[in-house]
Amino acid sequence: MDSCVKIINEWDIVAARQLGRNVAKELGFGTVDQARITTAISELARNIYLYAGQGQICIDKTEAGGKTGLCISSEDQGPGINDIRKVMEDGFSTSGGLGAGLPGVKRLMDEFSIDSTPGEGTSIKAIKWLR
Ligand SMILES: Nc1ncnc2c1ncn2[C@@H]1O[C@H](COP(=O)(O)OP(=O)(O)O)[C@@H](O)[C@H]1O
Ligand SMILES: [Mg+2]
Repeated sequence: MDSCVKIINEWDIVAARQLGRNVAKELGFGTVDQARITTAISELARNIYLYAGQGQICIDKTEAGGKTGLCISSEDQGPGINDIRKVMEDGFSTSGGLGAGLPGVKRLMDEFSIDSTPGEGTSIKAIKWLR
């Protein structure tokens, strides 16, 4: 079930969304959570495409403390983010996407972590738990 999509062009964003929706369905997420998950994937994949040029999105099943979840991992070796705290403030997002940028991804998912080093790249993980 675990798999990744390389993000190189805009079509790959669609493929990553489809992968996310399929895994979410298989895990038993309802349509509302499926929409939250695919919106989060779109935001992360679009950021890779726009700012890093290329990278990958992986969708994995995750389990902890008897709970099952879906984990989105976004990885790239792009320019990185200088001021993570600033980009996590609402209203910083510039492109006006449907998901409201990285703060939107954090809100749509249950867990969110970002690790970014200028000149090295960005790694983001976001988890949605089944309930
Ligand atoms: N993967 C990434 N690599 C480098 N910079 C990024 C990446 N993702 C986001 N950023 C930077 O963080 C900012 C905020 O991203 P985001 O919250 O998605 O808003 P938006 O894409 O609308 O500007 C972007 O404008 C960009 O400067
Ligand atoms: Mg964005």
